[in-house]
Amino acid sequence: MSCILGIESSCDETAAAVVDGRLRVRSSVVASQYELHAEYGGVVPEIASRAHVERILPVVRKALDEAGVTIDQIDAVAAGVRPGLIGSLLVGSSLAKAVAFALHRPFHAIDHVAAHLFAGLLRGGSDDDHFAPTVPRPALGLVVSGGHTSLFRIEGACSATLLGRTIDDAVGEAFDKAAVMLGLPHPGGPNLERCAAGGNPDALKFARPQLPNPLDFSLSGLKTKLLYEVRGVPQGRGAQSTFMRSSQDLSESRRADLAASFQKAAVAQVVDRLERAAERESPSALLVGGGVVANTHLRGELAAFCSRRRIQLVVPARAHCVDNAAMIAGYAALRRAEGDVGDDLSMPAEPVSLLARGTKPKRVH
Ligand code: KG4
Ligand code: ZN
Repeated sequence: MSCILGIESSCDETAAAVVDGRLRVRSSVVASQYELHAEYGGVVPEIASRAHVERILPVVRKALDEAGVTIDQIDAVAAGVRPGLIGSLLVGSSLAKAVAFALHRPFHAIDHVAAHLFAGLLRGGSDDDHFAPTVPRPALGLVVSGGHTSLFRIEGACSATLLGRTIDDAVGEAFDKAAVMLGLPHPGGPNLERCAAGGNPDALKFARPQLPNPLDFSLSGLKTKLLYEVRGVPQGRGAQSTFMRSSQDLSESRRADLAASFQKAAVAQVVDRLERAAERESPSALLVGGGVVANTHLRGELAAFCSRRRIQLVVPARAHCVDNAAMIAGYAALRRAEGDVGDDLSMPAEPVSLLARGTKPKRVH
């Protein structure tokens, strides 16, 4: 069975994985950098790329060891080349190209957003079966991560059309900013979920934004509403304006109520857009991915939505929602199953996703 080495270094996770041609994850190693960025309340690009340089070789070696393969048993090498922090992307993609060049193996330049989209097709289990990697269709695809919130019609592993996207913040980004407003530590999304666990989700009501494209998302109104609730409406104008309160004035129970209410509103907006898209597209499957899909409330609502509509839900294990390299290798395996033979080594690392931008709807890179 063919083996693909995947490498991911787009933001603050250094990751490597080995996945076989039947999308079976043979190893997946992720070294996260939370502790390096915690004191700054967010990812510092220069610190991230330096940490990738230090960690990438041990992480790749560990992935090969855990998969029980040597580097020359690898049949293809895949790396996330966009979107992401450019210095970080260069570390993983340069290593992947070097390995592919040295071993005379194909190199797959992977769009991280596309890899999130298909991560639910990754599998555990034994390799003595006859599973053929295929993408269910007609399908809708949803990526909800720290950088992207996008809805797609999926025609295959190499073809997806953008139907809607956020016009301001991504859902994960909004979770992270809401966590800061509530005085919760980095990483914001998981900490906000934890804080929300004991709260009343109906304590604060948020309006649902209506946009010219009914499949687009907007999170900025939710953030502003939460900010004013926590700190009061600012007094004065422009740079002179001041808040009356701080997050430290919140009681623990009020903080939990606001976290739960924010989480409920953000997830409700996602499901609302899915309802509209399902009405229009009549899909038989929904593929979801991205860090926010690790959120238990969102997972529950996605399951309920799919069971209401009798749609197959293709959802990754939590470990494959947040950034990882198994999704990079798995997506390369899917593309290979559809006849893709790889990309030129001159394919550059780029900060922006072509897929999420909708600029190349017929060919997903
Ligand atoms: O996919 P990902 O690991 O990186 C990007 O491609 O952006 O997503 C990271 C995002 C962060 O904004 C993080 O706060 C959010 O996913 N996230 C969560 C949870 N786990 C991660 N948001 C809400 N609840 C969670 N449990
Ligand atoms: Zn990601």
